[in-house]
Amino acid sequence: MAHRQIEHRRVKILFDEKQIAKRNTELAKAIADTHPKDLLVVAILKGSFMFAADLMRELHRAGLAPQMEFMHLSSYRAGMTSSGQVTILRDVESDVRDRDVLLVDDILESGRTIAFATDLLAARGARVQTCCLLEKPGKRAVQVKADFIGFTCPDQFVVGYGMDVAHSFRELPFIGLVETVA
Ligand code: IMP
Ligand code: MG
Repeated sequence: MAHRQIEHRRVKILFDEKQIAKRNTELAKAIADTHPKDLLVVAILKGSFMFAADLMRELHRAGLAPQMEFMHLSSYRAGMTSSGQVTILRDVESDVRDRDVLLVDDILESGRTIAFATDLLAARGARVQTCCLLEKPGKRAVQVKADFIGFTCPDQFVVGYGMDVAHSFRELPFIGLVETVA
């Protein structure tokens, strides 16, 4: 199994750049196959920024012309455990009524973030589909499923490709596990 040394920490690679790129192409094709109309992609910040940027380009290559918005939600405070409560740090600007909205997030874990965002946009009249880069199957606290999932990942704390631990590792082009924290 490949590893990278990032300063003084060792990160085990779970999904490398090639695997991610291939999966993004597949996801975009699957999304395009649902023939969304007037599609609005809403990326949930911060963790999904890199995935959403790559997915947008793949959606273009798949023949779609999505618009894009951002919603900054927070359930994790700087550490590794969820506070359980989702708060809106920044809302979307567009009117989502009667639009096909694709919510994009990094990880589906307890499900609280996706459930919260889906309920919020659906209450405003959007038709919501969800796309999560990763799913941790064993950690669901609320009943929610994503329409599109990139990869199933172990119930461990992952970093990279936009995802952080205490604000670090977002820059990594791959997804990995931090093995040693000095
Ligand atoms: P949920 O609301 O419990 O489903 O958690 C989803 C959010 O928690 C994601 O959008 C991530 O920002 C964060 N999160 C959950 N697990 C991890 C992880 O392993 N690494 C980094 N962030 C995570
Ligand atoms: Mg997040």
